[in-house]
Amino acid sequence: MNMRVIITEKIHESGINFLRENGIDIELLYETDRLLEDTIKEADGIVVRLAKINEHLLKIGRENRLKVVAKHGIGVDNIDVETARRLGVRVVYTPGVMANAVAEFTLGAILLLAKNYVRYDSEVRKGRWKVRYYASNCEIKGKTAGLIGYGHVGKIVANLANCLGAHVVVYDPYVKVQEEHVRQVDFETLLKVSDFLSIHAPLTKETYHIIGRKELEILKNGAYIINTARGGIIDEAALFDAIERGNVAGAVLDTTEQEPVTLDNPILKCKNIVLTAHTAGIADVAQVDESLLACKQAFQVLNGEEPTYALA
Ligand SMILES: NC(=O)c1ccc[n+]([C@@H]2O[C@H](COP(=O)([O-])OP(=O)(O)OC[C@H]3O[C@@H](n4cnc5c(N)ncnc54)[C@H](O)[C@@H]3O)[C@@H](O)[C@H]2O)c1
Repeated sequence: MNMRVIITEKIHESGINFLRENGIDIELLYETDRLLEDTIKEADGIVVRLAKINEHLLKIGRENRLKVVAKHGIGVDNIDVETARRLGVRVVYTPGVMANAVAEFTLGAILLLAKNYVRYDSEVRKGRWKVRYYASNCEIKGKTAGLIGYGHVGKIVANLANCLGAHVVVYDPYVKVQEEHVRQVDFETLLKVSDFLSIHAPLTKETYHIIGRKELEILKNGAYIINTARGGIIDEAALFDAIERGNVAGAVLDTTEQEPVTLDNPILKCKNIVLTAHTAGIADVAQVDESLLACKQAFQVLNGEEPTYALA
C-alpha cells in the first residue's frame, strides 16, 4: 500500500508533484467535502497552512498511521507542537522561505501609510483634486522604524528601512543584534521612538496582545503600525480606539485575530486601517519554494530520513 499525504489547503503544485513522483498518494482535502477528522485516519502525513492541528486530531492520527505534520510556513501557532512531540509525530516547517516576500510586503505597507496613497486615490475619485493642498504625506528618511522581532523577516525589513534612510531600532530579547545600522532597545524605548512599528515575532503566550491599551498609550503619538506576523499580537479593540482618537495615525494589518475577518468586525469600519488577507507571503517565487520544502520534508520523514527543519 502506498503512503498517503493529505494537503489541507491549496499550495503550489511543485510540492505535490514531488510527492507524487516519489510514489506518495495525495489527497487534496480542499477539493473535497471530507473532514480532516476522517481523513487523518488514513494519512501518513499532512501538509498544512493555517488549518488547526490540535491534540484531538493528532491523537486520532497517531492511533492510525500519522508520522509527520509539515507546516507550509513558519508560524506554527496553529499546530500543537508539544502534543505532537509527546506522541512521536514529527513536525517540520519552512523557516526563511517567505521572509523576503514578507519583508517586501512590509516595505510596501510602510510606503502605503507614509505616502497616503489610499486617501489620495479616494479623494481624486470624488473629484477632490485639491486634496494636495490639505493632506500631506511623510518622508521616511530620518524617521524611525521600530521592529518587534529580529529573525528572518525582521532582518530584511531592517535593511530595506535602512536603505530608505530610516533609523532602525529593534526589540528582540532572544537575539543579539550585530549590525551597525540597527540599534537594539528595550520594549518601552521601542514604543517611545518608533514612527513605524512593525511586528515580526511569532504569536506565543508571551507575545499575545503585546501591543495593548497600555502600550498604545506609550507609543509615539502619530505612529503607524504594520502587522504581518499574527493577529493575536495586537489587541484589535485597543488599536481601533487608538486610531479613532488619533494617537495612532494608521495601520496595515495583514493578519487579524480572527481569520477570515468577519463582516461585522469593527476594524472594517476604521478607514485608517488597510486590511489584507494574510497575503504577505503569497508571492510567486516564495509559494513554489515553500510548497517544495514542506513536501520534501514530509517525504524525508516518511522515507526514514532526518528532516531538514524539525520542530518535533
Ligand atoms: N503574513 C504572512 O504571510 C506571514 C508569512 C511568514 C511569516 N509570518 C509571521 O511572521 C513571523 C516572523 O517570521 P520570521 O520568518 O522572521 O520568523 P523567525 O522565527 O525567523 O523570527 C522571529 C523572531 O521573533 C523573535 N521573538 C520571539 N519572541 C519574541 C518576543 N516576545 N518579543 C520580541 N521578539 C520575539 C525571535 O527571537 C526571532 O528572532 C512568524 O512568526 C510568522 O508568524 C507571516
